[in-house]
Amino acid sequence: MLQNKKIIVGITGSIAAYKSIILVRLLIKEGATVKVILTPNAVNFVSPLVLSTLSKNKVGIELFAENEWENHVALGLWADLMIIAPLTCNTLSKLALGGCDSLLLATYLSARCPIIVAPAMDEDMWLHASIQKNLKIIENNGNHIIQVNNGELASGLFGLGRMAEPEEILLYLKENFCRKSELTGQKVMISAGPTKEKIDPVRYISNYSSGKMGLALAEAFYEKGAEVLLISGNPSLKSKYKGIKILYIESADDLFEACKLNYQSMDYLIMSAAVADYKMLNVEHSKIKKNNQNLHLELTKTIDILKFLGDHKTLKQTLIGFALETDNAIENAIIKLTKKNLNFIILNEISENNKCFQADENEVIIIDKNLVQTRFELQSKAQLAIKIVDYFLLKK
Ligand code: CTP
Repeated sequence: MLQNKKIIVGITGSIAAYKSIILVRLLIKEGATVKVILTPNAVNFVSPLVLSTLSKNKVGIELFAENEWENHVALGLWADLMIIAPLTCNTLSKLALGGCDSLLLATYLSARCPIIVAPAMDEDMWLHASIQKNLKIIENNGNHIIQVNNGELASGLFGLGRMAEPEEILLYLKENFCRKSELTGQKVMISAGPTKEKIDPVRYISNYSSGKMGLALAEAFYEKGAEVLLISGNPSLKSKYKGIKILYIESADDLFEACKLNYQSMDYLIMSAAVADYKMLNVEHSKIKKNNQNLHLELTKTIDILKFLGDHKTLKQTLIGFALETDNAIENAIIKLTKKNLNFIILNEISENNKCFQADENEVIIIDKNLVQTRFELQSKAQLAIKIVDYFLLKK
């Protein structure tokens, strides 16, 4: 997502500056072009040589270096993003007032790109009225503030004021400024994970699905700009992206209700949940005691949610189902594709190589309406999801 993005990293004089070395490294690894500017005070905390080596660019410090004027205007215009991390109280007050006594401040004033700041200070400083006032001022001026964390501070005290970790800053940049636009305005609903069908107050019937593939697809769609609703049967499934809405459900009936409530406004409907095919005809209200040698549970079919969606889908909607097969995989998948009126079916073949459930890797075959098969080799679910979304975009 950060490939070829031009990013200025401004570093001010705080002990948290060491984390910005890692941030620069992460940005470079993501394919961004990075230029670092230090305040003169930041040089006491981090080495310009380390930063110029990592960023593969000269590090700017002074407005006038070696009798030459640093062109802060050109720098400000060059950048797609500018992140000041860490931001000290001192530089914050200058940002709020429009101060301009360093290359960093001059570049800040000249920049036309989004500006993000990650403050770092002691808790009492952070909570001081004048600091909070300055934060409000720079926020009202259009800057974006990454909230401080709670934890151990340089003073030895514990509290609010720790600069966000480099990985959190990277994620913030990706989520808020670097999502692609191919699917902007498109709405996607994805179900993931198992369902749980109650037997009695303490037991249920379920399966091994983790929901990882559904989550990976949700994140891949989101990264391309789509608005994503993930409906998860796994209560611990969480996304790294705050903008993905997650609804947690338990049973096939709950999932059906959630899908019915939301499917109409969606452009893509993806059922990756491993929905129970059967539920108890009557859930026992009291715990079943082990009084008999054998126990017979009477089960009844759950509603086929995917079939319901296929029967009700509109022309603008793309409906995608999953198939999990151990025998006659392709034939069975094609039957499901046709019977449930799908645009695509993603076939998981359980084999020696591919355990599928719980695993971090997967391999699938996608079959489209014209019965054209496309194979995706074994790879991480995250990589696979990106390729699957690209495939859908190409096929539309
Ligand atoms: N599915 C559903 N509602 C159900 C059962 C399955 O929406 N009650 C969906 C799954 O989310 C998946 C697809 O149907 O996208 C196929 O699921 P799968 O378990 O492979 O097949 P079934 O249709 O349940 O048929 P069978 O278990 O007989 O293979």
